[in-house]
Amino acid sequence: MTAITFTARKMDDATRGRSQCAILPLFHRKKLSAEARQLDQASGGAISAALGLGDFSGKSGESCVLPGAAGAKRLLLVGCGDPATFDRAAAREFARTLAKAINATRAGDAVLHATELHPKDGNTPWLLQSLASHLTCATYRYTATVSKPKPAMKLSRLVVNTGDSRSVKAGQKALDRGLAIANGINEARRLADLPGNICTPAYLAQQARKLARDNAALGTTVIEEKKMRELGMGSLLSVSAGSEEPAKLIVMNYKGGKPGQKPYVLVGKGITFDTGGISLKPGAKMDEMKYDMGGAASVLGTLHTVAELGLPLNVVGIIAAAENMPSGRATKPGDVVTSMSGKTIEVLNTDAEGRLVLCDALTYAARFKPQVVIDIATLTGACVVALGSHASGLYANQDKLAEQLLAAGVESHDRAWRMPLWDDYQKQLDSNFADVANIGGPGGGSITAACFLSRFTGDYHWAHLDIAGSAWDSTPKGATGRPVGLLSQYLIDRAG
Ligand code: BES
Ligand code: MN
Ligand code: ZN
Repeated sequence: MTAITFTARKMDDATRGRSQCAILPLFHRKKLSAEARQLDQASGGAISAALGLGDFSGKSGESCVLPGAAGAKRLLLVGCGDPATFDRAAAREFARTLAKAINATRAGDAVLHATELHPKDGNTPWLLQSLASHLTCATYRYTATVSKPKPAMKLSRLVVNTGDSRSVKAGQKALDRGLAIANGINEARRLADLPGNICTPAYLAQQARKLARDNAALGTTVIEEKKMRELGMGSLLSVSAGSEEPAKLIVMNYKGGKPGQKPYVLVGKGITFDTGGISLKPGAKMDEMKYDMGGAASVLGTLHTVAELGLPLNVVGIIAAAENMPSGRATKPGDVVTSMSGKTIEVLNTDAEGRLVLCDALTYAARFKPQVVIDIATLTGACVVALGSHASGLYANQDKLAEQLLAAGVESHDRAWRMPLWDDYQKQLDSNFADVANIGGPGGGSITAACFLSRFTGDYHWAHLDIAGSAWDSTPKGATGRPVGLLSQYLIDRAG
């Protein structure tokens, strides 16, 4: 993956300076910007000609490469659509079109004249952050296990002409933020896309150690099964019981804030492969259960971003990593296990394993005296039925926390939708043989899973993100890196 370096700048004359590509955003039926006019003149009217011939009209989704002018080896026109309706959605569409068009060229560096890109419902920093994030996400390629990976994007340097000098400093910060967020997203995608035979609990632990090696403010400790047993984590251990791969509880501690400052704790479900266990899943699409560590990947990705930005916060990342397999040692339906909290759990379905690893991690989280705890999990197929892939399911025991997360989701376009945690649902988890059952019957499956988790949260503020629908796409298959965008934005907002 080639990283793109972004630089904000104010340029008075678009014909000055050299680049392999000058990128001109053009609106539909709107007179040319000053930069476009300058380059049009320098090119002997090539831009006006393309417009006049109708080869390019500025509609959104359109792009057009023209021969170079002045110091630019080529001109890339990118449609922005109707100027009256140019909003955040149109700006995202512009970024997508730009990424595709620039990827189709061999340009290694470019200058984007962004002087007229002002979304109605957003400001310039939002635009630049979103743009840097989109372009960096577009550089992602899966390479680990293919002999001839798709060629990488050539672009490695982008200068953004913000038009006025006042916005250069804020613009640079926004570009840096967008880059750091996308680096975290891409890291989450890389981890999630890895097959289950490579990305094991031990691999996740090793990646967390590596992240700590590369960042002075970050430390990683890994709790092994022996220690888990001493801590009484019978629920987590009941999931790895059937696997040859030992479970790992990975704890990452980022200290960017003051020593006494309460940490934000992120807890990720890290099932590196979910066969369902003895309650075996059907064969169709079972391969996609390599993505059952998407929550863990998002914790690692978010910490990647937080460390890159050096946010002045304390953040703890906890990953409950295990592989869910059937075997002679596997947990069976009807088995009763004792969690670290002391509560006993009747495992009625071994495929409801995410909550079994998370409940012990949530109990463990209390020792950090957290400001808030947010768990992230590909927890239920029912959440996919309820919300599809566009929204992650959000549950919270505090309204303020829920609102802040929803707002961060809107800002980053990595959205969540709040679901109820009403007591009425709790009785679906009653068991005759233990304090709680691990499944809640056919109705409201995402909700009863969240209700199960709520029984193990301490007295801290807690939110749960069910990302079963949002963590990966099925066609074409690939991890999305969600909700790293939401979580990073939430933490950036807290850092002020
Ligand atoms: N990892 C799955 C949830 C899942 C399924 C995510 C499909 C994305 C797509 C989870 O461990 C699981 O198997 N949940 C069960 C719970 C049920 C047994 C109560 C489910 O959703 O079917
Ligand atoms: Mn399962
Ligand atoms: Zn699972």
